[in-house]
Amino acid sequence: MSLFIGMMSGTSLDGVDGVLVDFWAGATRTMSSAHLPFPAALRAELMALQAASENELEREGLAANELAKVYAECVRLLLEKGGMKAADVRAAGVHGQTIRHRPELGFTRQTNNPALLAELCGIDIIADFRSRDIAAGGQGAPLVPAFHQDMFGEKGKTRVLANVGGIGNITVLGADGGVSGFDTGPGNVLMDLWIGRHKGQDYDADGAWAASGKEVPGLMQVLLSEPYFAQPAPKSTGRDLFHATWLDKQLKGFESAAPEDVMHTLTRLTALTLADAIKAASSGRVDGVYLCGGGAYNGTLKGMLSAELGDTVKVKSTEALGVPPNHVEAMAFAWLAHRFDERRAGNLPAVTGARGDRILGALYPR
Ligand SMILES: Nc1ncnc2c1ncn2[C@@H]1O[C@H](COP(=O)(O)OP(=O)(O)OP(=O)(O)O)[C@@H](O)[C@H]1O
Ligand SMILES: [Mg+2]
Repeated sequence: MSLFIGMMSGTSLDGVDGVLVDFWAGATRTMSSAHLPFPAALRAELMALQAASENELEREGLAANELAKVYAECVRLLLEKGGMKAADVRAAGVHGQTIRHRPELGFTRQTNNPALLAELCGIDIIADFRSRDIAAGGQGAPLVPAFHQDMFGEKGKTRVLANVGGIGNITVLGADGGVSGFDTGPGNVLMDLWIGRHKGQDYDADGAWAASGKEVPGLMQVLLSEPYFAQPAPKSTGRDLFHATWLDKQLKGFESAAPEDVMHTLTRLTALTLADAIKAASSGRVDGVYLCGGGAYNGTLKGMLSAELGDTVKVKSTEALGVPPNHVEAMAFAWLAHRFDERRAGNLPAVTGARGDRILGALYPR
């Protein structure tokens, strides 16, 4: 029983990424993968639930049920593609959809109905990975660094994993085995918002629209004045901070800027804040920066990040380490389910700020 499923649906709200992974004998072998976009109505409701609204308790319950059905369909696809049955799978680690992340208030909420999911797919479900770390005084995020260390760490090499989902986060794997990491700020979330508003597209494919623009004079300074960027780690963020209202506030006085120039500047904001974080957290030599998450497919962003880091630092995608960038986060949740199964800790207190190692997640038996 070494087969685990991991499913992630992140801040971008683009849908569910799933992987079926075999952890047999300490190896990590991907048997199948799937991506399911959210039905438009579910996406709109999950987006609306990011902020306070009318009758949200009932609406969250209903959205969680719909979400569980998308996860169940993802499981079905993973099993079919991997030629496996539900009974072959030890457990599925399911992130849920973040609708509030307020570690400073002592809670985070990933909506989901893991009981329904267990019922629908007949697999043990491990859910709610973040709450225990917060209960132990941590941020509950990022949780992927422990997996990054296990999967990509190499003695004597300093590697940086930069995950660009809705939010950006980095993991610095030190040559000495030390690990640090935190959320850097917006990944794709502002870019997606901007291109959605102006062109009705979900995202800027390969960063082509951003590349057609140039930087808006003075805007970067305003964007960078957001206190989050200067805050010391441990820190984590989400749509609770980086939302449309935040962006509109920063853009006051820049209303006449061309939309493609704003797009260019927002893309560079992600690159710049990632680069600054990488420089600060690695204090010196970095053997390689590896991009993952959907932002790894944004050539303009990758170029901007390279330019910020300078010639001596190579920016690649995790593909160079053998893992497709869009599999990494889902694999992390399969790995976290595996850790839970072994009753081993999933958090890194040095990253999240928790008081100690904690077993993460809750089990909903098949
Ligand atoms: N070809 C592409 N070109 C540019 N951007 C892309 C491309 N493909 C995906 N993206 C971006 O990646 C986003 C999805 O990335 P991903 O699924 O990693 O984010 P996420 O769901 O927020 O995950 P997480 O919160 O776990 O990091 C899309 O919303 C889009 O902005
Ligand atoms: Mg996603």
